[in-house]
Amino acid sequence: MPRIPLARPFWDEECEMAAVAALSSGRWVKGPQAKKFGEEFANWCGAVAAVPCQSGSAALWAAMRLLGIGPGDEVIVPGMTFIATATAVSLVGATPVFADIEEDYWCICPDDVEAKITARTKAVIGVHIFGQPFSQRLKQICKSHNIALVEDAAQAHGATLDGVMAGAIGDIACFSFFPSKNMAVGGEGGMITTTLPELAERMNRLVDHGRDDTLESVELGTNLRMSEVAAAIGRVQLKHLKDWTTKRRSNSESIIHETKTREGGAHSWHQLCILTENPDELISNLDAQEVDARVHYPIPCNRHQVYSQHFQHEISLPNCDKLAHRLVAIPVHPSLSESEIERINSALHP
Ligand SMILES: Cc1ncc(COP(=O)(O)O)c(C=O)c1O
Repeated sequence: MPRIPLARPFWDEECEMAAVAALSSGRWVKGPQAKKFGEEFANWCGAVAAVPCQSGSAALWAAMRLLGIGPGDEVIVPGMTFIATATAVSLVGATPVFADIEEDYWCICPDDVEAKITARTKAVIGVHIFGQPFSQRLKQICKSHNIALVEDAAQAHGATLDGVMAGAIGDIACFSFFPSKNMAVGGEGGMITTTLPELAERMNRLVDHGRDDTLESVELGTNLRMSEVAAAIGRVQLKHLKDWTTKRRSNSESIIHETKTREGGAHSWHQLCILTENPDELISNLDAQEVDARVHYPIPCNRHQVYSQHFQHEISLPNCDKLAHRLVAIPVHPSLSESEIERINSALHP
């Protein structure tokens, strides 16, 4: 009985041909593939512009730079997310301020965000956690306080909120193409998108040493460019994304669980997480049926050692502390067969 992994990266002949063509073109960087991938991705999610880059983490760092965030500034982030959401803020010398998450949807809690806004708050990074779009209220709060809204859409390719795709909801959005994500590029990769026309040109500059057309560096940037091979693979994968999202949604419905999607939202089911009082038992039942499962995320971000000097290190964010080690991710990826779904269900209900 072959094991069912949490992710099964997609690879077919078209991906292979696209990769080989990009290699044999001799143009390995700064060529037409990355340019077209950016245009197609912006078009797909309804953003004004998009630029491919080296990872979701790089995209988050770039978002902070695009917003001019630095020392003395605060950025509100959820206490339960992948650590890169918070460290992107620290890496530009600003302070991440951790807000609690919603008890039911597990995204950043708008009430706690509002309570934590100060005169130093420059942005909020809302994470569409596991593919669940963050609350509509987050957008209203940012607007009324004149604070930028960054989407961490690393897990949300294809998620929507009131009909608007992740990538076009906030001011800037950051995607990851890590191999386990809803689409990938055959290695590391990411995408920055924006809904603000004034950021479009700077976005392209920032991933290329902050250089303008004359090759003068006009602002601080570095090399965050995506390779042509990765972009060529990404363009093929993007064509499948709509079908894969539909399949993830139907898989999540076929797997018996109690997870909800926010009203007005459409989930992209990067992860299907089950809330349990006994994660070890659940993981071991799944393991006995050769099904991979993992706790997401075992530690709230503020409690990581990297934040041992942070003013919120010891503070309890009640829902983060309650939920962090009780959410078990199980396979929901689009390549699951009927019999694999049956096996997952029988392991969930032994
Ligand atoms: C919510 C979230 N943010 C950011 C990232 C960082 O993306 P990458 O691994 O491509 O740097 C990830 C990837 O795991 C993520 O899940």
